[in-house]
Amino acid sequence: MKILITGGAGFIGANFVYHILEKYPSYEVICVDALTYAGNMETLAEAMKNPKFTFVKGDIADRDFIFPLFENYKPDYVANFAAESHVDRSINDPGIFLRTNVIGTGVLMDASREYGVKRFHQVSTDEVYGDLPLDRPDLLFTEETPIHTSSPYSAAKASADLLALSYCRTFKFPVTISRCSNNYGPFHFPEKLIPLMIANAINDKPLPVYGKGENVRDWLYVKDHCTAIDLIIHNGRIGEVYNIGGHNERTNLDVVKTILRELNKPETLIAYVTDRPGHDQRYAIDPTKISNELGWLPETTFDTGIKLTIQWYLSNRKWWENILAGEYQNYYENMYGDR
Ligand code: NAD
Ligand code: TYD
Repeated sequence: MKILITGGAGFIGANFVYHILEKYPSYEVICVDALTYAGNMETLAEAMKNPKFTFVKGDIADRDFIFPLFENYKPDYVANFAAESHVDRSINDPGIFLRTNVIGTGVLMDASREYGVKRFHQVSTDEVYGDLPLDRPDLLFTEETPIHTSSPYSAAKASADLLALSYCRTFKFPVTISRCSNNYGPFHFPEKLIPLMIANAINDKPLPVYGKGENVRDWLYVKDHCTAIDLIIHNGRIGEVYNIGGHNERTNLDVVKTILRELNKPETLIAYVTDRPGHDQRYAIDPTKISNELGWLPETTFDTGIKLTIQWYLSNRKWWENILAGEYQNYYENMYGDR
């Protein structure tokens, strides 16, 4: 079997690359990644030593690159992780989100049709459902919850989902879609809440909490996400959407305080900053469908996963310090400088 994994130099894609190489040693894994600011070859250093792994640098939205790539490798499966993934960046510059997340997905599906891919898996997000109110903890996102997006990021991801479902209905294209809650774990780029707060706490820098820190996210350890995608690709029903999440809801403030406690740092490091425009209140997933159909259950509680994650960032300082030392400094200054 040959599996093409796009966005494999990013956070979740890389974890999935390692998951597949370990679980299916006979599979050939081809990773395509444009190596944007979020892609990092250091993340793939171990994979590069594996003869079953091939890395190709390129843009999923570039038809003249993608079609010859499919002609060359003829993958059986495609798992599309490549995306612009940060809500704050989508507020500053929506255009690139349309190109990669929508056009890129379209180009990959066209090539997959042309070259007879057996399964195309689109990695989507719970953010396509918009948000839930803070005062209704009984409400959860199911696969039937209407699409109702808030940010250019989530709107672009939702557009790709709709395009994928249209290909399935119109062309009998063998697609599955997963919509997962917020991930955390190794190789998470330190612009997102958890890795940013860990890095700042370690460096005794202020921890910028948006608004009052009351917003709620449903956190899933990245390895549980990878297991779920694996099950969907191999056993999921074509044309279906599967929600993935682990009933690990926490307010942002809870998350930040947990990190400070684990690192033995004072809460005086918390700095409340101007809220994100259009900030989604609460995300919460109902994973009944994937659980009943595919037997998936998350294995890692938040309490365990956050300890593992903090430990990973303490043991892999060079990985994130290299990122913080680069061009990312300018982003940080722009985003938080006079907030
Ligand atoms: P990430 O930003 O860490 O990684 C994205 C990767 O895609 C990077 O390696 C980047 O170089 C690559 N990429 C970007 N544009 C590209 C292009 N045009 N062509 C080829 N490669 C390109 O993102 P992530 O957090 O790993 O998210 C992966 C996927 O999972 C995304 O589709 C995202 O929407 C989805 N998702 C993320 C979360 C989360 O909590 N991070 C939750 C649910 C779903
Ligand atoms: P983020 O990791 O960007 O994921 P998403 O917006 O896709 O859920 O943010 C998670 C939550 O943390 C979100 O409510 C915004 C908040 N947040 C902060 O309070 N401060 C920060 O510096 C960042 C990056 C996020």
